[in-house]
Amino acid sequence: MGTELMTKIGSKLLLTYFLLIISIFLITSLSFHFISQRYLINGTEQQLQKEANVISQWLSKGNLSRSTIQAKLVNRKVLAISERLTSSKMIIWTGNQNIIYSDLTAITLNQLEKQSKGPGRKFVTETVEITAKNGRTKGYVTLFAKIEDIKEINKLMRNSQLISLIISAIIAIVLGIFFEKSLTKPIRLLTAHLRNYTVRGSNEEISIRTKDEIGELADSFNALSRKIKRYDEDQKVFFQNASHELKTPLMAIQGNAEGILDGVVTGEDAKHSLNVIIAESQRLKKIVESVTYLAKLESVEESFRFAEESLERVILDAVDSVAAIAEQKGIEILVKNDVTGSVLMDREKMKRAFINLLGNAIRYAESEIVVYSMMRSVEEIIIEIVDNGSGFAPGEEKKVFQRFYSGDTGGSGIGLAITKAIIEGHNGTITASRAEPKGALFRISLPNKE
Ligand SMILES: Nc1ncnc2c1ncn2[C@@H]1O[C@H](COP(=O)(O)OP(=O)(O)OP(=O)(O)O)[C@@H](O)[C@H]1O
Ligand SMILES: [Mg+2]
Repeated sequence: MGTELMTKIGSKLLLTYFLLIISIFLITSLSFHFISQRYLINGTEQQLQKEANVISQWLSKGNLSRSTIQAKLVNRKVLAISERLTSSKMIIWTGNQNIIYSDLTAITLNQLEKQSKGPGRKFVTETVEITAKNGRTKGYVTLFAKIEDIKEINKLMRNSQLISLIISAIIAIVLGIFFEKSLTKPIRLLTAHLRNYTVRGSNEEISIRTKDEIGELADSFNALSRKIKRYDEDQKVFFQNASHELKTPLMAIQGNAEGILDGVVTGEDAKHSLNVIIAESQRLKKIVESVTYLAKLESVEESFRFAEESLERVILDAVDSVAAIAEQKGIEILVKNDVTGSVLMDREKMKRAFINLLGNAIRYAESEIVVYSMMRSVEEIIIEIVDNGSGFAPGEEKKVFQRFYSGDTGGSGIGLAITKAIIEGHNGTITASRAEPKGALFRISLPNKE
């Protein structure tokens, strides 16, 4: 199917090219035919006139006799050879149609006149008066050329034009075939590459270095293939982590349940085991819920419902939700807001993002958490969440947003992945870094509404 397509493109190109050459060929031949014939006839007429004038000059002196005319003919031959394309014939006559000299005896002046008029004429003629010094008309010189001769020359010219056109057409077609090959070759390469492409296989990048649209297409495909690979990698890691994360609570549940069933664990211990089973089931439920939520965030774009909201209100709501736990742990949460006016956001999701960040901060903070929000510019809002806890282990700040990444004292490791997906759903970005002098700093950048 692919190669078929390629040959189709190739033959379409060639056919177009071929038709173009043929039409140029026909148009030039036809116009050349008519133009050149007219040009030749015009040229001959002018030439005849010029020559007739010269001859009439020569013959203006002396008497108009056959012998004088013949004596001067030698000069005429020189003139004819040097300037004219067709050979002309000459008739010299006096007023009363009396022919003194003629190159052609088989034709009379009357016949000549008749045959040099109208569309089917056979001759081109030019007649010039021969006048004496005193202004008296001595006679006439009529020069004429055969149209047939002119056509013959035209034919010769056309033939040579035809030959040169054929030669250039052949060169053009050879070049056309060459270009067709060089054009369709990269397409064919690309198709073969696409056909053999597998997400998991060790595909090499296509190297098509033509600096045209096909080269661009190849580059785009390479970029797309890198994206697919990265996505596939992510997906693989996600499944590995997810199954690992689900296996731990499931094993705890299984172990405790078997202990009770076998009668190994009894009394108070059995109660404890049952509590473990409940806690682990809840953890499982939470993981499944979080993963489902994350999947929804990443797949359904319409899941975001944007509205004009007060950023401060959303932050304070999130702080309220975690206030009880913070108080329990003796941690103070300070909110400093410089953002006035409303911000376009999905209120519920943004609150959830802040709760996740505050929840983590409470887990690690020593005594204090600060939430700053400010306008960086008219288009950008910055929100920072800083705690004074232990901060990140070296290099950890790069991994915290990965799904299922959690530190030694962490939870299931899905909270920050959800937060990141929410912020990105708002076309924003989130980064983690170490705070000064200690603790963790999360910085969110959100585009301000236009
Ligand atoms: N404020 C913080 N200070 C230090 N480490 C942090 C902080 N916030 C996050 N982390 C690190 O990043 C990891 C990932 O956080 P994340 O919120 O994604 O998962 P989690 O809190 O472990 O589990 P959960 O899914 O319940 O939120 C944490 O386990 C912890 O190691
Ligand atoms: Mg968390």
